[in-house]
Amino acid sequence: MKPLIAGNWKMNGSLAANEALVKAMLDGLGGQTAATDMALCVPAPYLSQLQSLLTGSTIAWGAQDLSSHEQGAYTGEVSATMLKDFACRYAIVGHSERRQYHGETDALVADKAKVALAHGITPIVCVGETLAEREAGQTEVVVKRQLAAVIHAVAHCTSEIVVAYEPVWAIGTGKTASPEQAQQVHAVLRAQLAAATQHPERVHILYGGSMNAANAASLLAQPDIDGGLIGGASLKAADFLQIVASSR
Ligand code: 13P
Repeated sequence: MKPLIAGNWKMNGSLAANEALVKAMLDGLGGQTAATDMALCVPAPYLSQLQSLLTGSTIAWGAQDLSSHEQGAYTGEVSATMLKDFACRYAIVGHSERRQYHGETDALVADKAKVALAHGITPIVCVGETLAEREAGQTEVVVKRQLAAVIHAVAHCTSEIVVAYEPVWAIGTGKTASPEQAQQVHAVLRAQLAAATQHPERVHILYGGSMNAANAASLLAQPDIDGGLIGGASLKAADFLQIVASSR
């Protein structure tokens, strides 16, 4: 399985900045055949721009969220069908910032993952514990509960999801989980996937949380870390490409 390095731009960007960033990434890749799968998950208004810039390249694009509803009176929401209009390959679901600031529950995240799959979009399902949960020894219980909700909802399609382990205390803080800490949780998630699908090895389990050009190689060297979900460092072409290079 090729590693997957996905950028999550969060609420950053502008037409001008995006164009410069994406062009610098494509220039840096220099048309080489990709040994690593790559994706950029961008704010919804820029999906059309990313589609124009990335069509025909080795970088896929995706959204940072989607609605659990198909269509209708849901002001502000973006549907899976709309994302498909812009050829989105991925959609992040259940990012901790959505869970924390928008009250997203395990059940809602599971519904979103199911809707994405039904529309041919690969959900990147985020799980992760807060610092308080880690300190209370609850890490495994929390991530297993979060993933179990999704497995229950998507059932036989479990092998088609991407999972991202993002410890909340490591996001945007500069504090990375050590490779050993991350691997420990990834192994738990792999075992949980193995109980739900015949092909747990086909599921990318990404690490996210202050992954950068300097620490990526040691994290990606772990047996159950199949890639990264990159926030801040995905806003700098050289850093993102260095992480991609570290994944080979
Ligand atoms: P940072 O890489 O900025 O810590 O963000 C990680 C993240 O939340 C990716 O989804």
